Amino acid sequence: MSFFTKELAMDLGTANTLIIYNDKIVVDEPSIVAIDQRTGKVMAIGKDARQMQGRTHENIRTIRPLKDGVIADYTAAEMMIRGMIKKIKTGASLFNPSLKMVICIPSGSTNVDIRTVRDSAENSGGREVFMIYEPMAAAIGIGLDVEAPEGQMVVDIGGGTTEAAVISLGGIVCSDTLKIAGDVLSDDIKNYMRAQYNIKVGDRTAEEIKISVGCALENYSEPEAEPYVVHGPDVSTSMPISVEISYRDTFEALDKSINKIETMLHQLLERIPPELYSDIVKNGIYLAGGGAMIRGLDQRLSEKLKIKFQVAEDPLRAVARGTGKALKNTEKFMNLLIR
Ligand SMILES: Nc1ncnc2c1ncn2[C@@H]1O[C@H](COP(=O)(O)OP(=O)(O)O)[C@@H](O)[C@H]1O
Ligand SMILES: [Mg+2]
Repeated sequence: MSFFTKELAMDLGTANTLIIYNDKIVVDEPSIVAIDQRTGKVMAIGKDARQMQGRTHENIRTIRPLKDGVIADYTAAEMMIRGMIKKIKTGASLFNPSLKMVICIPSGSTNVDIRTVRDSAENSGGREVFMIYEPMAAAIGIGLDVEAPEGQMVVDIGGGTTEAAVISLGGIVCSDTLKIAGDVLSDDIKNYMRAQYNIKVGDRTAEEIKISVGCALENYSEPEAEPYVVHGPDVSTSMPISVEISYRDTFEALDKSINKIETMLHQLLERIPPELYSDIVKNGIYLAGGGAMIRGLDQRLSEKLKIKFQVAEDPLRAVARGTGKALKNTEKFMNLLIR
């Protein structure tokens, strides 16, 4: 039987969904669906749906089904999960369930969320469907030995949530999540641009600024950095204006939210049992998720919390890699998987 089983790993993120199939990343798209309001049918999924964002008329709605680390729209979530899997020609279906799957879900997922994900996966041809919590998948993806009797700590800064977890002996010993992550950081930039430069920028431009010049340090510089220029309407006159943005600007914009992340981490560190705490001081803390790539964030957190923070290799894909590894070794990781 297992000879005919095909394997699929999915990282269901609030911002991005990744699928590994046949050991390759075959889907890496924003977690967005566009729905035709008149028929209720899916019009586009992923990148195509993102193109429509902010450009829709009343008959089209773009939805991000996962928000703040939980499913905010169940119907849309189901459409998105099925649509993402359909992008790959697996040959599996409800009538030919032949997929073994591991799906990574936010650690704040409710029982109803889990049920929805499972139903969607089974409707897409899932025969054996397991789930895994995001920080655990991140740790496995980073290459940490999650089953060792030793404390390891990961912080995943995604779109909707920052999830921090201390892992030892194959379980999450303590964890915390905060609804301050990539989306809020983009909003911070948007608000700052309006307040400081009187310029109106949309969500996507704000995100681009964050990715291009987003910075966590007060005095940050990069050799040969080109000035980053943003165009948009003046808030009061609506005339087009251009503004040059510096690292200093994004630092000012992001500082408050990063402080909140620091406070959350600080409080979590206080709760860690002493043995594990000393393991973590020795091993350092790993940063994953897109937010880990804010310039200088690792350095800032290391200085503030006096423990070395390190950005995982390819942080946007660490969770997907870990989910893929869990899929390859379901026997070994059985205790970490949710059935
Ligand atoms: N280079 C970067 N610098 C800062 N933020 C980034 C960068 N690349 C992506 N991001 C942000 O990371 C978030 C997505 O991260 P991801 O780990 O995919 O989230 P999720 O797991 O919630 O889907 C988005 O808010 C995106 O803007
Ligand atoms: Mg993620």
